[in-house]
Amino acid sequence: MDAFLSAAYPWIKSLHVISVIAWMAGMLYLPRLFVYHADAEPGSDTSETFKLMERRLLRVIMNPAMGATFIFGGLLLATPGVVDWGAGWIWVKLAAIAGMTITHQVFAKWFQAFRDDANTRPAKTYRIANEVPTLLLIVIVAMAIARPF
Ligand code: HEM
Repeated sequence: MDAFLSAAYPWIKSLHVISVIAWMAGMLYLPRLFVYHADAEPGSDTSETFKLMERRLLRVIMNPAMGATFIFGGLLLATPGVVDWGAGWIWVKLAAIAGMTITHQVFAKWFQAFRDDANTRPAKTYRIANEVPTLLLIVIVAMAIARPF
C-alpha cells in the first residue's frame, strides 16, 4: 500500500487540488445566490430559478467535490513522508478544514430553508457569510503551501 501511495502521489495530489477547486467554487458562489434569493418574492419565477440553481450547485458539484477532497486528502495523509505530525501547519490546516465542513453544513441548512420558502434572514446575513469560506480558504492554502511552522 505504501509503495502504491508513493507512486501515485503526484496524481493523488492533482486530484485533491481539482476537487478542492470544485468545492471552493461552490462554497464561494452558493452564499452569493442566497444574497439575491433573499430579496426575491417566495413563489415567484425568480425564486424558483434560484432554488433550481442552488439545488444543482449543492447536490451535483459541492457535495461530491467535498467527498472527493476528503478521500484524496486522506490518501495524502496516509502517504509516507508527506506529513510530519510534529509540525504545526497540519493541525491548523485540519482545524480550518473542520471549519469549512461546518460552514458547508450550515449552507446546506440554509438551502433547505429557501427550498421550503421558509427563509427569514436578510440578504446582509448571506453577504457576511460569504466571507467565511474566503478566510478559511486563505488559511488552508497558506498552511498547505507555505507551511510557516
Ligand atoms: C479532509 C480534508 C483535507 C485533507 C486531509 C488534506 C490533506 C492534504 C495533504 C496531506 C496534502 C499534501 C501536502 C504535500 O504533499 O505537500 C494536501 C495538499 C494540498 N491541500 Fe489539502 N487537505 C484537505 C482539504 C483541503 C482543502 C479544503 C483545501 C483548500 C481549501 C486544500 C488545499 C490543498 C492544497 C492547495 C494542497 C497542495 C499543496 C502543495 O502543492 O504542496 N486541502 N492536503
